[in-house]
Amino acid sequence: MLGAEDHSSDNQFLKDVIEGLSQKQKSLSPKYFYDATGSALFDKICTLDEYYPTRTEVGLLSDKAGEIAELVDGQHLIEFGSGSSVKIRILLNAAKGLASYVPVDISREHLFGAAESIAEDYPNLDVIPVCADFTRSFDLPDVVDQGAKAGFFPGSTIGNFSKTEAHDFLAMAAGMLGDGGGLVIGVDLKKDPKMLQAAYNDQRGVTAEFNLNLLARINRELGGTFDLDNFIHDARYVEDKGRVEMHLVSLKEQVISINGTPFAFQKDESIHTENSHKYDIDEFHDIGRETGFEPDRTWTDKNNLFSVHYLKVAA
Ligand SMILES: C[S@@+](CC[C@H](N)C(=O)[O-])C[C@H]1O[C@@H](n2cnc3c(N)ncnc32)[C@H](O)[C@@H]1O
Repeated sequence: MLGAEDHSSDNQFLKDVIEGLSQKQKSLSPKYFYDATGSALFDKICTLDEYYPTRTEVGLLSDKAGEIAELVDGQHLIEFGSGSSVKIRILLNAAKGLASYVPVDISREHLFGAAESIAEDYPNLDVIPVCADFTRSFDLPDVVDQGAKAGFFPGSTIGNFSKTEAHDFLAMAAGMLGDGGGLVIGVDLKKDPKMLQAAYNDQRGVTAEFNLNLLARINRELGGTFDLDNFIHDARYVEDKGRVEMHLVSLKEQVISINGTPFAFQKDESIHTENSHKYDIDEFHDIGRETGFEPDRTWTDKNNLFSVHYLKVAA
């Protein structure tokens, strides 16, 4: 494994939490779900019966691996939000001549553990993990920056961004990938709300645990005093916004403190913790065009649950 880079920052976490909980609609950024516990819980979510996105996207990537490999082979492959680096293996098995694999993630331990296991399993591949927050500008290692680049952004993580943030991210990615580059991106599609409702409210309560872990993380890392028994997980599809919203709802009137700063909650008041936007194909193509890409290929499963796109950086 080549020299890893770490651009993450701890103070930012405290600043963002204080700011988010000071708003009228309290909110926390979903990027903070992913400490080691949160990353492990997300992996568990991916195995749940109700959580159709992972198995559907894996099916699509496996079916189209040869075609995708032809588009990205020979280039440096940068994966945004690589997590456990599981899906990338499908592409690595098909694209044997990559210049390097650069997993980028905010979850430091998880990233380095996953990168190490990729480096062991693909000994001829240069693996260069970069710990960074991809919603802020970050540098690629020089050797990567100077070569031809392809991006990989699976898991419909793009759906966690607001429409404006999605634009900003895609424009940043187009600039980073540069002339001749392209992005393979997984995007969850609009569908029957009942299926969405089930996917984010699983029977075993793993998604609830994942959501509540954000409060546990604030307690662990920022001296928070949240009592997890006083909050419940709530996920709902908001049709006019085309998104699943996750909230943590206060079961009673209470005051908690973080690093000495108090925050009052009314009974039933919520903290908005995540959006998962769902897209139509045309809608997503338009966003690609508005952000410096040209939609080149689109693959969907037979039930139109999920889509994988290859967006080419526009000349
Ligand atoms: C929804 S999970 C997807 C994981 C994996 N790509 C997959 O498809 O299964 C989101 C991943 O993005 C990472 N992530 C979320 N926000 C991030 C940010 N702002 N900067 C860097 N990584 C981020 C998380 O740590 C997590 O690994």
